[in-house]
Amino acid sequence: MLNCEIKDPALALAGRQRIEWACREMPVVKLIRERFAKEKPLKGIRISGCLHITTETANLALALKEGGAGVILCASNPLSTQDDVAAALVEYGIPTNAIKGEDEATYYKHINTALDNKPQLTVDDGADLVTTLHTKRTDLIKDVVGGTEETTTGVVRLRSLEKAGKLRYPIIAVNDAQTKYLFDNRYGTGQSTIDGITRATNILWAGKKVVICGYGWCGHGIALRARGLGSHVIITEVEPVRALEALMDGYQVMPLMEAARVGDIFITISGDKNVIDKAHFEVMKDGAILANSGHFNVEINIPALESLARSKRRIRPFVDEYTLDNGCHLYLLGEGRLINLAAAEGHPASVMDMSFANQALCLEYMVKNRERLEPKVYPVPEEIDKQVARLKLNSMGIEIDALTPEQEKYLTSWEEGT
Ligand SMILES: NC(=O)c1ccc[n+]([C@@H]2O[C@H](COP(=O)([O-])OP(=O)(O)OC[C@H]3O[C@@H](n4cnc5c(N)ncnc54)[C@H](O)[C@@H]3O)[C@@H](O)[C@H]2O)c1
Repeated sequence: MLNCEIKDPALALAGRQRIEWACREMPVVKLIRERFAKEKPLKGIRISGCLHITTETANLALALKEGGAGVILCASNPLSTQDDVAAALVEYGIPTNAIKGEDEATYYKHINTALDNKPQLTVDDGADLVTTLHTKRTDLIKDVVGGTEETTTGVVRLRSLEKAGKLRYPIIAVNDAQTKYLFDNRYGTGQSTIDGITRATNILWAGKKVVICGYGWCGHGIALRARGLGSHVIITEVEPVRALEALMDGYQVMPLMEAARVGDIFITISGDKNVIDKAHFEVMKDGAILANSGHFNVEINIPALESLARSKRRIRPFVDEYTLDNGCHLYLLGEGRLINLAAAEGHPASVMDMSFANQALCLEYMVKNRERLEPKVYPVPEEIDKQVARLKLNSMGIEIDALTPEQEKYLTSWEEGT
């Protein structure tokens, strides 16, 4: 067995079984894996992946390995690792360094170990691997052909790197594929965030005032599911079009300073920093619950919360009770990290099927087109996005109509009017 830093190799059997279970819901990745096994499009390519170490990621990694790649993995978040999956991956011959709850120093050590593999392709979720490569391991960049990025926050960071003229190799923004954000961000984050908060607290959602900070695709999904459970949803936003959309979708919209006084549960999902801050904590009701599902643990200002608290205790796993000087108790879930991955299992495999099908096909595309791609952030090629949707529909046994030649002509011409 490879020498990897994981929690416990004895967990491998449990991990294998759960990876197999997820595979049942990942028919598109399975099809790609079967094709990759025959065609070997990634033959001899070294891939370093910084991803949430979950059953779905394991299925992606196995597909890449079947495609001929040498894959090494590390976690993209210190709290999201499923230790049994890490153990199984090592057994499958995919070196993995990740331990749930690892401290920041270990987290970066594991990123560096993944980079020691001298990647030709990088697969990132949040851009920590790419950032480390561009700042501390620049000697390795010459070998890199390209990469992919999984999430909104990572794409934001990469675009800013590109704008500063410092991005050194091409990266495809997988997050921005329609078959990614419309399903993973909306339905995946929607369901799994509610799942994480429920598992951590066992609260009843019906009748609660749920404040959602950020009405992007993830915010849409969380709001939809919270409403479905009978919560009164309040949206806070900084972007007027999205605020208007939230209002017309039937939610209350108000500044967070107002919402802070009435909310029972607060969920940040903005990709932004210090969204819930000191002034908000000071006016919150006794018993308010705070959770984050955005990529980094910066959306809730935890140092400010600590500074207001006279005591803190862990009252249940993933629930820290802060007693403030004003006597109120506030409950922070999962240390302010992605609650769906910290306290639950992340997205259901069925949506990750599409996100990771995009990943696998984009990596193949990157290798095929390596000569002509420049150091830029590229969108997912439309044909890949459409192919993923088509394969997913097929796997569900759903057929759709096709344009007739007459309709095709009509939709691409300007001559016909009333
Ligand atoms: N938990 C998960 O598994 C998961 C999955 C996908 C994405 N994400 C992460 O979730 C975050 C949101 O993703 P998205 O795709 O919805 O992004 P998005 O950019 O589509 O939406 C974010 C929204 O937050 C708003 N916002 C920014 N600052 C704000 C503030 N101070 N107050 C209120 N609203 C504010 C923006 O105007 C925007 O409408 C990102 O960090 C992304 O990486 C997490």
